[in-house]
Amino acid sequence: MNAPSAPTPSRPEDDQLFQLLRQLDRAPEASQRATAEALGVSLGGLNAQLRSATEAGLITVTQRKGNDRRQRFAYALTPAGHDMKERLVKSFLTRKFAEYAALHTELTGSVKDLIPLKYRSTLMQSNLAPIPELYVSYDSAQKLKVEAGELVSHDLTPRQICDLELLMNGGFNPLKGFLTEEDYNGVVENMRLADGSLWPMPITLDVKPEYADTIEIGQDIALRDQEGVILATMTVTDKWVPNKAREAEKVFGADDQAHPAVHYLHNIAGGVYLGGPVTGIQQPVHYDFRGRRDTPNELRALFRKLGWRKVVAFQTRNPLHRAHQELTFRAAREAQANLLIHPVVGMTKPGDVDHFTRVRCYEAVLDKYPAATTSMSLLNLAMRMAGPREAVWHGLIRANHGCTHFIVGRDHAGPGKNSAGEDFYGPYDAQDLFREHEDEIGVKMVDFKHMVYVQERAQYEPADEIADKDDVTILNISGTELRRRLQEGLEIPEWFSFPEVVTELRKTKPPRSQQGFTVFFTGFSGSGKSTIANALMVKLMEMGGRPVTLLDGDIVRKNLSSELGFSKEHRDLNIQRIGYVASEITKNGGIAICAPIAPYASTRRQVRDGIEQYGAFVEVHVATSIEECERRDRKGLYKLAREGKIKEFTGISDPYDVPENPELRVETEGTDVDNCAHQVLLKLESMGLIASSRL
Ligand code: PPS
Repeated sequence: MNAPSAPTPSRPEDDQLFQLLRQLDRAPEASQRATAEALGVSLGGLNAQLRSATEAGLITVTQRKGNDRRQRFAYALTPAGHDMKERLVKSFLTRKFAEYAALHTELTGSVKDLIPLKYRSTLMQSNLAPIPELYVSYDSAQKLKVEAGELVSHDLTPRQICDLELLMNGGFNPLKGFLTEEDYNGVVENMRLADGSLWPMPITLDVKPEYADTIEIGQDIALRDQEGVILATMTVTDKWVPNKAREAEKVFGADDQAHPAVHYLHNIAGGVYLGGPVTGIQQPVHYDFRGRRDTPNELRALFRKLGWRKVVAFQTRNPLHRAHQELTFRAAREAQANLLIHPVVGMTKPGDVDHFTRVRCYEAVLDKYPAATTSMSLLNLAMRMAGPREAVWHGLIRANHGCTHFIVGRDHAGPGKNSAGEDFYGPYDAQDLFREHEDEIGVKMVDFKHMVYVQERAQYEPADEIADKDDVTILNISGTELRRRLQEGLEIPEWFSFPEVVTELRKTKPPRSQQGFTVFFTGFSGSGKSTIANALMVKLMEMGGRPVTLLDGDIVRKNLSSELGFSKEHRDLNIQRIGYVASEITKNGGIAICAPIAPYASTRRQVRDGIEQYGAFVEVHVATSIEECERRDRKGLYKLAREGKIKEFTGISDPYDVPENPELRVETEGTDVDNCAHQVLLKLESMGLIASSRL
């Protein structure tokens, strides 16, 4: 490198002009006296400067209305004035850098390690400079919070809270609020906002139609978290009924409810979308791992402080095992960058290991990285599992968080199989789409193929780079296989994971025979549900090991649902309550036995979904025919129903959806109760929920 040339001396008239333009730009309406004081010149001197800047076409002067003699004129920079100001800033910085370089040479006698001037025209690397947030100042937030108390509220869903947090803290920059209809259409159709910027994921505020009917365009609403805390306000500029089938096709690749986000779209998201700009009041509160959560600007500041110019981010929703560690090491080496482990702790794929366990696992693995090169931060993102589009979205989010590189592996953010049993996306579709948009995303992709363990060399290698495939032993444990081993308490080899990680996973995922589960009986009144459920409860209590709770239809109606009748709405509410209690029992390792009629398939499905996040759901259809139930008529209710004295009686004057695929169907006609209960026990044993030695 040549020695830096001697710096161009500064020209006083340039400095003077720069100061004038900067001052007028900052305070165009200030009085002449105030402007003169700010510049440290006399009124006469200021007038001379103003005159020559006007003649040079750099500013315009307009006469102000009103009687205030001290503020007779207003000044504005012309486009040429703005250009001039920019040019003067640049030449000032160039001069300063040249001065530093000269000083450096003088002090050290060397020019080595100096970054060439042409790369230093701005003060901060753009990935490290602060990005815009949607929060107002602390004082304004206090005022706004009081005012927002008067507004109509929307209670945010867990997913919307995650979205709002990233909108407000700049993680979703350039979005300024929930998408408007025009932006939404652009995003769905071709991954672009109305202004043409790349944005692949609809970030929408979905609400119930009844609520939407009460909202007028132009109205401000308060956005509250689930405890009622006001996090933000939104000015509703748009309200529309989306074409959800189209959204599913375009964004997720198929209108197939086997895709978790499509299932969410059709079954959980409201039917109307509201759009408009958001004003941030406060961040959602997190009580867990607070020190590990960072906003984009906090991470940018951290990287600045640590002097990390290049940062490669690793996105994950799974515990880290040895293959991941190898992959991240390689990525950092390849990109010559520092490493940010950036796991998602908002919402991931249903059935994933919960984030509490995962973060404990990450913390255990973090010790295995060289401390000065690697950092970890938790990202409160609600994933959609949208594969290729999701990868592009993840890239944009990481760019906002100050990263320069992003790892995209095999089947990035893949949702698993579709309803025909095939993968939704090709294994490298995400890499392809990312590559296509890499420049616009603003982070470089570090692509990785599938990593496998080569036993002879005792190391992980990308599967497609192993030249001697046929001569070596390649080992791999899939996610499904890992879950099976954990469930059955089998060995997890050292080459696959770290002992600390396995210990954490075993703590939260004990073998199935020690996990909670729910047995859900369904059938007509008088079919024998309660009797079999009681017998089953006693048998399970005799075995011991887990607490057993019986939620019988009659008992629940007395204690939990005493105000409810038998309309569809009330029956659904009753079953949802039973489902909620059962899910809590299951989550905490107990056995819940439910025995309501539960006549509607869709409600049973909802209960199943709620419980299967925590443990097994065993649906048992007590298939006694309506004729037999009526013949038995143990409570005399069928007679009353026939006489019309009880309305909406299941099987007589109200529907019953026969379960299509229950885990077990028991026939009670000609079989005694003990035998029926035993059939259920055998089923539980075959599912690994109770140990066979106990039968
Ligand atoms: S549901 O549909 O699941 O909410 O019903 P459930 O809570 O299991 O309550 C059913 C018991 O209430 C008595 N009962 C009726 N059943 C059906 N339809 C009507 N209209 C009705 N009115 C009262 C009946 O005794 C049911 O008890 P079981 O234990 O099923 O015999």
